Amino acid sequence: MEYISIKGGNRLEGEVYISGAKNAAVAIIPAAIAANDICIIENLPDIADVQALTTAMTQIGAVCTFRDEHTLEIDSRNITNYCATYESVRKIRASYYLLGVLLGRFGQAEVPMPGGCNFGVRPIDQHIKGLTALGAEISIEHGIIKARADKLVGTNIYLDVVSVGATINIMLAAVYAEGVTIIENAAKEPHIVDTANFLNILGAEIKGAGTDIIKITGVKKLHGGTYTIIPDQIESGTYMIAAAVTGGDVFVRNIIPKHMESIISKLTEMNCKITTGADYVRVRTDKKLRCVNLKTMPYPGFPTDLQPQFTALLCTASGTGILTETVWENRFQYINELKRLGANIKLDGRTAVVQGDCKLSGAQVNATDLRAGATLVIAGLVANGETLIGNVRYIDRGYEKIEEKLRALGADITRVNR
Ligand code: EPU
Repeated sequence: MEYISIKGGNRLEGEVYISGAKNAAVAIIPAAIAANDICIIENLPDIADVQALTTAMTQIGAVCTFRDEHTLEIDSRNITNYCATYESVRKIRASYYLLGVLLGRFGQAEVPMPGGCNFGVRPIDQHIKGLTALGAEISIEHGIIKARADKLVGTNIYLDVVSVGATINIMLAAVYAEGVTIIENAAKEPHIVDTANFLNILGAEIKGAGTDIIKITGVKKLHGGTYTIIPDQIESGTYMIAAAVTGGDVFVRNIIPKHMESIISKLTEMNCKITTGADYVRVRTDKKLRCVNLKTMPYPGFPTDLQPQFTALLCTASGTGILTETVWENRFQYINELKRLGANIKLDGRTAVVQGDCKLSGAQVNATDLRAGATLVIAGLVANGETLIGNVRYIDRGYEKIEEKLRALGADITRVNR
């Protein structure tokens, strides 16, 4: 069995380079199907989700060639198969983007219900509402979503909940819809903007991405192009929190500081010293941190994908912190694992009350999902003795070379087979 082993106590110091954004990559790779041409995607993170999605793309007939570990060429000219297999998509949530893009380009798509991390019900009703409004007929049979349309026609779509996936999926289908589609109450995450920018490079006409009203004017044809993916906001935040928890001094480089504002604000409130440059943030901690309260929100609010990592930090700060999760109904499964390391956290529905001043100590724990895995790594960095983290495959879904990057900052971390 593969584990990550961490011997806690080392202060992190130095610089870390952030990889391309996972959640932009997993939208932009399928979006390349819209081109019916050759696209080159640069700055892809070298992570398991990208590999899994590339396999699913190949299986439907896209020719995917890695020019190097971060650059992928996608030739989508010879796709003849609109059905993704269960085996190829079951591990990744983002497989649902194949639905929108195949429907937009070919008027038909069959995609098994998406997999991904399990934090309660993960409905796709808003995806279906949007695609149906564009004129698609959608049914779900034996766990397979089947979509078909003679033609898609632009319309106004109001999302009942702010959904990253639904916003992108509707955009993907609407690029070829006749006339104008307007998505209201759209999600505003940086990866929405990145996906829109990519599609616009291919000749799409998308305006307003990054605001809550997105306007897509349908076009008849797109073409190929080369695009560089934005840096990963969540990987950046994870290293900022890792720096803070160890009382370190770390430059987190190759990032867009604007995307980090909610995290910078919370860390500053806790007593961290943060400075920013054009493409970096420096996180320094030279005094005891204090607990703060936190509520997750869609962007530009504090991201749910950093809530678990932040909990680990609160455990070591002084005082009590209250965390409220508003995006996912059950994103606290990691708490039981943190408790094995000595955390004192009380859970009440969507709220966790974290008692700070905890002296964490190493134990054997299991990642219950991707960000839960990162949380255990952060806790392990300060826990006394050895922390042995199982289910490493979850961490590999979203963090490129996590041990190497942390080792370069001074952590005692290795991957072991036991
Ligand atoms: N929702 C609905 N109906 C829908 C879609 C969503 O009710 O049709 C609800 C969800 O249940 C949830 C909320 O809306 O309560 C937000 O869900 P959203 O659709 O925004 O999430 P997602 O697109 O499935 C993406 C990221 C997640 C991240 C969320 C929120 C990808 C591949 N995944 O998921 O990332 O937590 O947005 O920001 O982009 C991660 O990277 O660890 C991760 C889980």
